[in-house]
Amino acid sequence: MEEKILTLGIETSCDETAAAVLRDGREILSNVISTQIPLHQKFGGVVPEIASRKHIVNIMPVIDEAINKAGVQLSEINQIAVTYGPGLVGALLVGVSAAKSLAYALKIPLIAVNHLEGHIFANFLSAAELEPPFLALVVSGGHTALIKMNDYNNFELLGQTRDDAAGEAFDKIARVMNLPYPGGPEIDKLAKSGNADAIDFPRPKVSEFDFSFSGLKSSVLNYLNSAQMKGEVVNNADVAASFQKAVVDSLIEKTVDAAQNFNLKKIVLAGGVAANSSLENNLRAVCTENNLQFFYPSKILCTDNAAMIACRGYYQSLKKDFATLNLNAVPNLGFKG
Ligand code: KG4
Ligand code: ZN
Repeated sequence: MEEKILTLGIETSCDETAAAVLRDGREILSNVISTQIPLHQKFGGVVPEIASRKHIVNIMPVIDEAINKAGVQLSEINQIAVTYGPGLVGALLVGVSAAKSLAYALKIPLIAVNHLEGHIFANFLSAAELEPPFLALVVSGGHTALIKMNDYNNFELLGQTRDDAAGEAFDKIARVMNLPYPGGPEIDKLAKSGNADAIDFPRPKVSEFDFSFSGLKSSVLNYLNSAQMKGEVVNNADVAASFQKAVVDSLIEKTVDAAQNFNLKKIVLAGGVAANSSLENNLRAVCTENNLQFFYPSKILCTDNAAMIACRGYYQSLKKDFATLNLNAVPNLGFKG
């Protein structure tokens, strides 16, 4: 029988300590995620120092659990893929150090993975039939970008946010509305009972395939502040629904424009904000109308996980894109293209 490659993935870029084992490119043997969300919730956002310390406590138990759940021995792992950016430097360093130590001890190759590329690759784990070329819309807490994927190892950045990321805007507005961290899922829930046409928040105007969410964010904050000053009662569900619609409309409009412009027939949604039900449903509907095929990762693969990192790493290993033990964390890493 042909030998299968086992890749151990490690992810610690923000507030999830995660490890996963993948057989070849797309078969998940284990996908362990230890979330720190409850720990950061009382601060209303991720506290970098606390995140790093918690990653240090969790990293080895999470890796052990991933190995055990996969039903393999550590000695059977062929290669290690780790997120080296973008993210919080102290948090990234925990994963990078663990991966380097294991790669050194086991004498196996190390692969340095860009977290954003990992989010796109989550789709290969959810859809066995998916292959490039396609257009990827990456929407996370820190990034909003449109990427043209020509091949597994060939990307082009078509556009990105000029200011805030979509997830950042969701989290900020939720915080002002006294909703718990992370705000995205809370706004998503609240919006279901609101009227999305109640308030006409401005749609951002930026050229080409770039995005902008800071003007929209300020407009929602102004709306909430001025209502509070006038002593008016605000319908939070309507605010959530109207804000969400403005974000979703802008994401969808640019995505469809880019698909048409570059004649791409497949649209792939990626990143934490991909878990947003309105974005998923509306983008799916627009894709159907425009004869575009729509791909979307399962909920657990939308937000941060190590299976997507192992998947990205596997495809890098096919072109021998290995890292040395000098690998360092790169907190502001962008798309390499
Ligand atoms: O990709 P991710 O897990 O971490 C980063 O790489 O940033 O994304 C986290 C972001 C947070 O801003 C969170 O509020 C947002 O994804 N998010 C959502 C939803 N679920 C998570 N935003 C809107 N609707 C959701 N259902
Ligand atoms: Zn992420």
